[in-house]
Amino acid sequence: MTTCPLLFLPLLFLFIIPSFSSVTKLNVLSYGAKPDGSADSTKAFLAAWTQACASTSPASIYVPRGMFLLRNVKFQGQCKNRAISIRLDGTLVAPADYRAIGNADSWVLFQDVDGVSILGGKLDARGTALWACKNSGKSCPSGATSLSFSKSKNIVVAGLSSENSQMFHIVINGCQNVKMQGVTVTASGDSPNTDGIHVQLSSGVILNSKIQTGDDCVSIGPGATNLWMEQITCGPGHGISIGSLGKDQNEAGVQNVTVKRPHSSELRMNVQNPILIDQNYCPGNNNCPDQVSGIKVSDVTYRDIHGTSATQVAVNFDCSSKHPCSGIRLEGVSLTYKNELAAASCKHAGGTSFGVVQPTSCL
Ligand SMILES: *[C@@H]1O[C@H](CO)[C@@H](O)[C@H](O)[C@H]1NC(C)=O
Repeated sequence: MTTCPLLFLPLLFLFIIPSFSSVTKLNVLSYGAKPDGSADSTKAFLAAWTQACASTSPASIYVPRGMFLLRNVKFQGQCKNRAISIRLDGTLVAPADYRAIGNADSWVLFQDVDGVSILGGKLDARGTALWACKNSGKSCPSGATSLSFSKSKNIVVAGLSSENSQMFHIVINGCQNVKMQGVTVTASGDSPNTDGIHVQLSSGVILNSKIQTGDDCVSIGPGATNLWMEQITCGPGHGISIGSLGKDQNEAGVQNVTVKRPHSSELRMNVQNPILIDQNYCPGNNNCPDQVSGIKVSDVTYRDIHGTSATQVAVNFDCSSKHPCSGIRLEGVSLTYKNELAAASCKHAGGTSFGVVQPTSCL
C-alpha cells in the first residue's frame, strides 16, 4: 500500500504538471497601454509583443475593453515560440490625423511570424478624412493597409472586424497556411481603394468573411495558390477579383482558387463585377506594355454563387492571349442585373460549366 504513491509520483509529474499549461499571459495594460483612445499605446504593445516573442512557451497577449491608439507598428518575428495569441476585447484606433500613418504601407504589420492568432476585437483606421482628400482630387498620402501579414505562416484571424481602412483592410503577402474565419470588413461603398482582403504570393489561405467596402471584396494578386473562399458575403463592393496581374512580366501565376457560395447580403445592389479575372488590369492605363500579362491563371472554381450585379457584365474573364486562363469551372452560378439576365464575357478563357449557370457561360 505505501509503495503505490511513490510509484505514482513520477507519473503525476509527467501527466499533471504539463496540464497546468504554461501559457504566458500578457495584459497590455501592464505595459502602460491606455484604453482612452488618445494616449499613444504603440510602445506598450511592442513591449508586450517583444516578451511574447521571446517566450519559449506559448504566450497570450490580452487587449481589454477600451480604445487603444496605435501608430503604424510592426510585430516582427522570428519568435522563440510558435503559439502567440492576441485576444482583443477592445478596439485599436489609428491617429485622427491620417498623415500620421498615411505614408506607411501598413498600419498593423506582422512580419516573419509563425503561429500567431488574432481573436476578436476591432481595428478602426479612421480613413474617412483620407477618402475625402482622395475624392476631392487633392494630392494625399496613398494610405496604409490596416492589417498585413508578410512572410508568415500558420496564422489564424477569427472574429476580428476592420472598419474604415485608409487603403486595403487586410493584406496577406508571402504567407502559408492562413485562416480568416468570421472576419468582418466595413467601409463605405464610395471609399477609394479599400479592398477587403488582398492575397498574393501565398498558399493555403482560407477565407470566410463578411465584406462591405468600396473596392474589391477579395482581390487576388500574383502567386496566390490553393486559395479557398467560402461563405463570403460581399456588398457593397466589387466582388471577387483576380486581377492586378499585368504589371510585371515576372509575376508568379495564380492557381487552384475555389470560390464557394459567396452570397451578397441584403445590401447587394452594388456588387460590381461579382466574378472577375482581369489579366489586362492597368491602373491609370499607363505603363502596361502591350497589355500582355506575364502570368498565368489556372484552375479557378466558382461554386453556388448567387447575387446581384451592379454592372450588366456580371462574369468577366478578361485573359491575355499570351497566357490564356485555363481550367475555369462554373458550377451553379446565378447572377442577375437589375432583375434581368446579366451577361458573361470571355476573352482567352477556357474551362467548363456544370448545372445551372446564369448568365450563360461563355467558356
Ligand atoms: C487546391 O487547394 C485546396 C485548398 O484550397 C487544397 O485542399 C487542394 O489540395 C488543392 N489542390 C491541388 C491539386 O493542389
